[in-house]
Amino acid sequence: MCGIVGYVGSQQARDVVVEGLRRLEYRGYDSAGVALVADGRIAHDKRAGKLANLEKALDERALPAATTGIGHTRWATHGAPNDPNAHPHLGRHGRVALVHNGIIENFAALRAELEASGHELRSETDTEVAAHLLELEVERTGDLTTAMQVVCCRLEGAFTLVAVDSRDPDGVVAARRNSPLVVGIGQGENFLGSDVAAFIGHTREAMELDQDQVVTITADGVSVSGFDGAPAEGRRYHVDWDLTAAEKDGHDWFMRKEIFEQPRAVADSLLGRRTPEGLLQLDEMRLSDGDLRDIDKIIIIAAGTSFYAGMVAKYAIEHWTRIPVEVELASEFRYRDPILTRSTLVVAISQSGETADTLQAIRHARVQRSKVLAICNSNGSTIPRESDGVIYTHAGPEIGVASTKGYLTQLVACYLLALYLAQVKGTRFGDEIGQVIDQLEQMPDHIASVLAQSEEVYALAREHVETRSVLFLGRHAGYPVALEGALKLKEIAYLHAEGFAAGELKHGPIALIEEGLPVLCIVPPQGRDFLHDKMVSGIQEVRARGARTICLAEEGDESITPYADALVRLPQVPVLLQPLVAVVPLQLFACELATLLGHDV
Ligand code: F6R
Repeated sequence: MCGIVGYVGSQQARDVVVEGLRRLEYRGYDSAGVALVADGRIAHDKRAGKLANLEKALDERALPAATTGIGHTRWATHGAPNDPNAHPHLGRHGRVALVHNGIIENFAALRAELEASGHELRSETDTEVAAHLLELEVERTGDLTTAMQVVCCRLEGAFTLVAVDSRDPDGVVAARRNSPLVVGIGQGENFLGSDVAAFIGHTREAMELDQDQVVTITADGVSVSGFDGAPAEGRRYHVDWDLTAAEKDGHDWFMRKEIFEQPRAVADSLLGRRTPEGLLQLDEMRLSDGDLRDIDKIIIIAAGTSFYAGMVAKYAIEHWTRIPVEVELASEFRYRDPILTRSTLVVAISQSGETADTLQAIRHARVQRSKVLAICNSNGSTIPRESDGVIYTHAGPEIGVASTKGYLTQLVACYLLALYLAQVKGTRFGDEIGQVIDQLEQMPDHIASVLAQSEEVYALAREHVETRSVLFLGRHAGYPVALEGALKLKEIAYLHAEGFAAGELKHGPIALIEEGLPVLCIVPPQGRDFLHDKMVSGIQEVRARGARTICLAEEGDESITPYADALVRLPQVPVLLQPLVAVVPLQLFACELATLLGHDV
């Protein structure tokens, strides 16, 4: 997720803005830039790579003194992480400079409209389109706030925009829709930030904005309005976190912060995936429909948590497309002699895009002339660069070592891939595909409803601080969730944990069940009776041997109540999509237990 800073006051804006960007470095970024309003002009610079590259460039250029400015650290979504794509972006005549966080879904149509009227765009970004539109409106109305309101009404998607006008050295104007923006209230100076860390070194007084609002800051005032121009009020509050906590949005660990970011991450990963006609589109995929129609086998390669996302993908792809899927650990795949042909699609799943085994595995696949598609969260990283096509997840930078939002957004990308293949190959009707996308679009709310039960999950963790071993049971798409739940616990709580396919238990592992052993059971939705009932009988079996059963079961499933020592409720969702909600309590459980055990999460 990008970092954003805005400043108006009496200090040197360059220093305040660069300091703010440094405070936001923890969010991860691949380029940075600033724009200052000085002497009736915009002075700006932007550089790929570390903030130090930008600072060096700014020092060399000796920018004019200015007390109004904006800055940005970019996490690439549209276009490679290079200088031209870095922010700020300027309008056609260089009057307006704009920085942006988020995704403008209808940017392609807007870009075509601008190009048709003679605008030349210098970058591949969706942001530059907004900068040109904003400048056109400023030239028409003479007022940046009005222009921002007008432009925001034309944009679809999620965005925070922050802009300056060279003819108005006293103000910075910003807007937000489904993307973070906070105002910092100072004495004779005001700030904007993608989070409070951007200005916490200067003030702890902040103002929160609602959706679809525009805010204008000057040195002495803050005014808020809706996109429709109607005056509005922001909500003032005092920030009582220190700087380190502020970077984590008030959470103790990045992992916990990222767990709570998941509704947003999933929503962002679904943005811009449908055409106006309701068809699924995967912009960056680069593989033609012809290529995809020829695919007769898919091999998914990945490591760790990404591998478990691949296991869920197998269920979805095979069900919706009838294409056989193998899922393999990258570290195994690269050292054996896999059977690959030109009609095999190799899908490499990697949050970082840099995992060595996965990279070597795709190189191996490409030598055999198979097509390689990456599912990746890091724009411009090596794995997507070396692949034939890519589906980017839009989780934003994952800083916590244990993957959480990375995993959920990988699942989303896998579902989208499966549905896209079904669309191209015609294995599912369009209305059925549309229905699943509708269900996916409800997932952010469902995930939020699971997060709302975090206190109950933390209480469960408190009950298990003495435990030395935990088992996880799942079936069907719940089986990889069980494996992922166990991995999280091993990785951060240093506990022995095992995930099993519930049906496999009787073939040996049941011997591990002893009095009081906690067993977390992911219960499939009731709609799929055979899966659900088999799971319930598995739970009865382990309970009969003295296990303490902690069941994750959907709302309204009362059949499980007699056999559950503890229950966490999941929203009612289709079985194939259930991993998106079922894994969340397991992440919270691991994070809390690790914290209680005194580990550095
Ligand atoms: C577990 C975890 C790891 C990664 C694995 C692959 O919480 O984070 O298991 O999933 O190292 O990493 P990527 O997805 O970056 O290839």
